[in-house]
Amino acid sequence: MAQQDDVFKKIVSHAKEYGFVFQSSEIYDGLSAVYDYGQNGVELKNNIKRYWWEAMTLLHENIVGIDSAIFMHPTIWKASGHVDAFNDPLIDNRDSKKRYRADVLIEEQLAKYDDKIAKEVAKARKRFGESFDEAMFLQTNGRVAEIVAKRDALHERFAAAMNDNNLDELRQIILDEEIVCPISGTRNWTEVRQFNLMFKTEMGSTADGAMTVYLRPETAQGIFVNYLNVQKTGRMRLPFGIAQIGKAFRNEIVARQFIFRMREFEQMEMQFFVQPGREMEYFAYWKEQRLRWHKALGLGDEKYRYHDHDKLAHYANAATDIEFQMPFGFKEVEGIHSRTNFDLSQHEKYSGKKIQYFDPERNESYTPYVIETSIGVDRMFLSVLCSSYEEQKLEGGDTRVVLHLPEALAPVKCAVMPLVKKDGLPEKAREIVNDLKFDFATHYDEKDSIGKRYRRQDAIGTPFCITVDHQTLEDGTVTLRERDSMQQTRVAIADLHRLIHDRVSLNSLLRKLA
Ligand code: GAP
Repeated sequence: MAQQDDVFKKIVSHAKEYGFVFQSSEIYDGLSAVYDYGQNGVELKNNIKRYWWEAMTLLHENIVGIDSAIFMHPTIWKASGHVDAFNDPLIDNRDSKKRYRADVLIEEQLAKYDDKIAKEVAKARKRFGESFDEAMFLQTNGRVAEIVAKRDALHERFAAAMNDNNLDELRQIILDEEIVCPISGTRNWTEVRQFNLMFKTEMGSTADGAMTVYLRPETAQGIFVNYLNVQKTGRMRLPFGIAQIGKAFRNEIVARQFIFRMREFEQMEMQFFVQPGREMEYFAYWKEQRLRWHKALGLGDEKYRYHDHDKLAHYANAATDIEFQMPFGFKEVEGIHSRTNFDLSQHEKYSGKKIQYFDPERNESYTPYVIETSIGVDRMFLSVLCSSYEEQKLEGGDTRVVLHLPEALAPVKCAVMPLVKKDGLPEKAREIVNDLKFDFATHYDEKDSIGKRYRRQDAIGTPFCITVDHQTLEDGTVTLRERDSMQQTRVAIADLHRLIHDRVSLNSLLRKLA
């Protein structure tokens, strides 16, 4: 674990050093859990968003996009349940004066049991080799069976407490499990209280009578309140989807792990409206589709898993998360929810407007059911960054830091470098840049030795480096160096466009999904 912590720290400082992510307001000592994206970060982020947007709107003829405002009528949040129920259970440690989410403390305790079990299993697998039977081992090894039983009992108790909103029971679990504050090391806990996560602000001057408005905690409600507009103006027929990318805000109390849990973040959400009774079929469809989208990036199939929810949100009748293996464990990156007709019905009730669909096949009107896919852009960014980072040992004892980013997502696709800054090589290199830049994010670099220039591009994940040398002037060829293999091949300038395009275009990724 300590080793993983070290790797994560290195990734965070790499993200800053190479212009991916900066602490917000850094020269004023920073603003907690708020981050800015730098020159390379914004490109990587935009490419992730483009991959999602195009997978939704180009590959599905029944999905369209919108861009709704962040400010919305405050009654929307009453109707959606966020004013009354968008809460986290908080607990304070009296000695350290630190505040924690009670549910997170318990989840971390569950993860500790899981770690212990996994370690025992790994040891036994090594001991028994080929003949190892994991299921049998978990049942028959006394010590391990005891840990499994403890974990299962805790899991059941925790799920029940969360479902019943039983705050006293959450506190009791923390005491019974002897969970200590990581700062003070004590068990001097306060009661557990509910805390609403929405940010409030005022709209209009006080003289006019200001109205309290909220910064949206999810983009989804902007889609629900535009359901009728899009259905009618787009003449959409069920099933159809509305996609949106935009900022969301939550006053997170436990804001840790870099851009994993932020107070201002971005979501990519899609609401898929279906006939009542068909929601489970589409829930299964979107579960499968979304995992395929993730896996097409090639970050490693073993790094993903589904996590079905024990406690369903107030609007859902089925929910699962797609979790990704971050350096700090498997964590939620995306949620897929079957939201029933809860939101549309609530908006119908609170607005007094009829929000229904007339189904020409059934010859009746009804409120559609909804399957939602909701992914955090920043968490996606973090998963791509973490799984791409490598400190690689090279022959001869040298090391390099390389980001093996999926090529279509890389901020810079190719860097063009004259071997030396004279003899007409810079001019030739500029000529190549001026041709490639219309199709690919292309860098020109002539500073420092060629080795240093390669390292700089490796560190930001540039898939290709093109070196212009004296031979280029004679025969119109250049060296094309690949980031991952570091292999160099001599290719004609005329072939560069095709060779690069085949590898870095978003099309190649999207085709894997079709
Ligand atoms: N509309 C449903 C919804 O908002 P959610 O599970 O609360 O569901 C969806 O959020 C996704 O948004 C999460 O899977 C996560 O990727 C991202 N997300 C949520 N809170 C976040 C935060 N504080 N910082 C960064 N990303 C967050």
